[in-house]
Amino acid sequence: MQDLFEAARAAFGNAHAPYSRFHVGAAVRGASGRIYAGANVENASYPEGNCAEASALAAMVAAGERRITEALVVAAGERLCTPCGGCRQRLAEFGAPEVAVHLCAPDRLRRTVTLGELLPLSFSLGAAEGMGPRVVPENDDGGGGCGEDGNGGGEDDSRDAGGERGGAGNGGPGVGQEARSAVEVVRARRPDLRPRVGLILGSGLGGLAAAIEDATAIDYAELPGFPRASVAGHAGRLVLGAFAGVPVACLQGRVHLYEGVPAHAVNVLPRTLRALGCELLILTNAAGALRPDLVPGSVVLIEDHINLLGQNPLTGANDPALGPRFPDLSEVYDAALRARCQSVAARLGIALPGGVYLATPGPSFETPAEIRAFRVLGADLVGMSTVPEAISARHCGLKVLGLSIVTNLAAGLAAHPLSHEETLTQAAGAAVTVERLLHGLLEELAHDLQDPA
Ligand code: HPA
Repeated sequence: MQDLFEAARAAFGNAHAPYSRFHVGAAVRGASGRIYAGANVENASYPEGNCAEASALAAMVAAGERRITEALVVAAGERLCTPCGGCRQRLAEFGAPEVAVHLCAPDRLRRTVTLGELLPLSFSLGAAEGMGPRVVPENDDGGGGCGEDGNGGGEDDSRDAGGERGGAGNGGPGVGQEARSAVEVVRARRPDLRPRVGLILGSGLGGLAAAIEDATAIDYAELPGFPRASVAGHAGRLVLGAFAGVPVACLQGRVHLYEGVPAHAVNVLPRTLRALGCELLILTNAAGALRPDLVPGSVVLIEDHINLLGQNPLTGANDPALGPRFPDLSEVYDAALRARCQSVAARLGIALPGGVYLATPGPSFETPAEIRAFRVLGADLVGMSTVPEAISARHCGLKVLGLSIVTNLAAGLAAHPLSHEETLTQAAGAAVTVERLLHGLLEELAHDLQDPA
């Protein structure tokens, strides 16, 4: 193994990782006994780089070999670094499940696993906790992709083209698989129901799920890859049933970046809804208002958004089977549906002003200076959610409608300090209005959504 280690360590030293600054070297032994080494190679469109394992395998293939008998990866940092999903697949392409994979620090062996063990090793905890991939301490029994989740930004290596490493994956095969597994669980519980509309309920709006008829609730814990909602007001359940005569799948609880999860962790939600058969995703949230006319309790139709989260759920390799590499966001919030919603609101006598929603990572509320700046940027509402789901939903082909409940005037506009309790109370008050509005809208849409079969 020493010869493999030397080769991988030399490659590690030569890695081109100016963006992540996370060097990785890998070496594989071909069936001939020859060693092929590779380093991670980033470029300005980081993280679309080459992983070290992929580089090593490419060198082997170029030399005419097709089988590996041993592999070794060298990476720095305090935590164990396992190959990403894409590289696990690549290695498995050329090696039997019993092939040894040595996971090393630059100065020592940390752990040896087999190729067959690598998959469970890298998926078990991160996937089960819905946190996507994670890096684990060396002595942790659970595995993790070599992600930056909990590892601090900039420490991630760019080689995760497959989606397991935090910060780099758009879910790719990993989350796609999770969505598929979640769909299997849902179908087993409700084989009779094909939901057409998905709903994601924001802070304080969870009660809306109670209006769903013939309901079946499934805890997120039962759904592979689903997040664990950790915030008051977010129950963490998928409720299936009928609302206004339309089969719906209602996600009661969402995941926020401030909970410490990467943006790509949200992908499993819209993708599961899409895979279940939904065509439309209705997003609701609680928001602070930047316009004095949007008093607490107002319901606002989201016309567009500004993403100041500093993250995009689609970062990382793209699976074209899920959606395009560069999705168009000229009309995230479907114009025809917005017009329909406006006309339903008018019919029901519900005031429904429109506005631009700006997303910040939170969890602290904004400063008055930030709110003044956001106003200049064109925002009418501010909140800590919705935008990753909307982007992910558009990517996988869902139409999107967004409604905000104004729970407070934003910082500096209100006479009192902001609090999450106020958010929950105000949202609960306006939830009845949102429910009426959505009931009226879905009644109208029921006709359009009728199964053509
Ligand atoms: N800022 C950010 N998020 C929020 C607010 C706010 O004022 N109100 C409800 N969610």
